[in-house]
Amino acid sequence: MRPVVVSTIAATRQHVTHARHRGLSIGLVPTMGALHAGHARLIRDARAETDYVVVSIFVNPTQFGPHEDLDRYPRTPERDVQLCAQEGVDLIFHPEVAEMYPPGFQTYVEVTELQRGLCGASRPGHFRGVATVVTKLLNIVQPDVAYFGQKDAQQARLVQQLVADLNIPVRIRVCPIVREADGLALSSRNQYLSPTQRRQAVVLSRALQAAATHVEAGERDAAALRRILAEHLRQAPDLRLDYAEVVDADTLQPVTTLRGRTLIALAAWLGTTRLIDNVIVEAEPGPRPAA
Ligand code: PAJ
Repeated sequence: MRPVVVSTIAATRQHVTHARHRGLSIGLVPTMGALHAGHARLIRDARAETDYVVVSIFVNPTQFGPHEDLDRYPRTPERDVQLCAQEGVDLIFHPEVAEMYPPGFQTYVEVTELQRGLCGASRPGHFRGVATVVTKLLNIVQPDVAYFGQKDAQQARLVQQLVADLNIPVRIRVCPIVREADGLALSSRNQYLSPTQRRQAVVLSRALQAAATHVEAGERDAAALRRILAEHLRQAPDLRLDYAEVVDADTLQPVTTLRGRTLIALAAWLGTTRLIDNVIVEAEPGPRPAA
C-alpha cells in the first residue's frame, strides 16, 4: 500500500487525529529523506511497536551551517515513497521550508549542555536546529513513540533530554546502527564518497571496533583508547580527523578513566564529506590489560 503523502501541518494533524479516533497508537520516524536501510530499521521498529507509522521527510535548513551541504543534500522523493511503501508506512509528512518556518518564525530550542561538545563543537548552531525541528515535529504529530538512530548518538541523547526537560509526552526509542557489510555506518552522505574515499571510510568502524575490543579486555584509560583510534585512522591517508572522543554516554562529558556506559565517538572528513560513527561500551571494573 502506498502511504498517504501530505505537505501541510493541517493535513498531518487530520490524518493522525483520525488514526487516534480509531484507537491506533502513533509512531514517528523523523528523517531528512534519501532513505536507506538505516532509516528502514527505524521504520520497522515503529511498525512493530505502534499501529500507525508517520515518517517525516524534511531537509531542515536550520541545522545546516552556512558553508554546509544544504543545497547538495541528496533528495530522492520518489524512491523514499517506495521505501516507505515497502515498509508499510501509513503517512509521509513532506513539508516545504515555508510550512515549517513561515515568515516571522523566531522561536528556537537549545539543549544548552549536551549541544556543546562532539559534533556541536565543529557545527555551531547544528543542534539548535535539530532540537527546534524535532520539537516542532513532535508537536505536529504528537506520537506515542518517536524513533532515532544511535548513529547520531549526540542527537539521540539530546532529544531524550529535551523531551524530559520540556515535558513532551512521548517515548523516545534509540535504534542500533545499521552498517554496510564492511562495517561502514549507513548514511545519506556516503553517496558523496569517491571509490577511493569509500574504501578508506571503513577505518572509522574498524577503529571503533578495535577500541571496543580493548575495553572488553579491560582497558579503562581514555588516552590509551584515543591512541588506538588514531593508529587505525592513520591507515586512511585522505582522512582528516575532526574528533575522536571518549565520553560518558549520559552527560557526553569527556572521561579520563572509563566507568559505566561510555560513548566512543568519531567524526572525520574524507574530502568534503563529513562522516560520524560511534560505539557504546560498558566499562565495568575489569582486569587490567596485559602490558
Ligand atoms: P537523517 O540523517 O535523515 O536521519 C534520520 C534518522 O535515521 C536519525 O535518527 C538517524 O540517527 C537515523 N539513522 C541514520 N543512519 C542510520 C544508520 N546507519 N543506522 C541507524 N539509524 C540511522 O538525523 C536526521 O535525519 C535529522 O537530524 C532529523 C532528526 C530528521 C532532524 O532534522
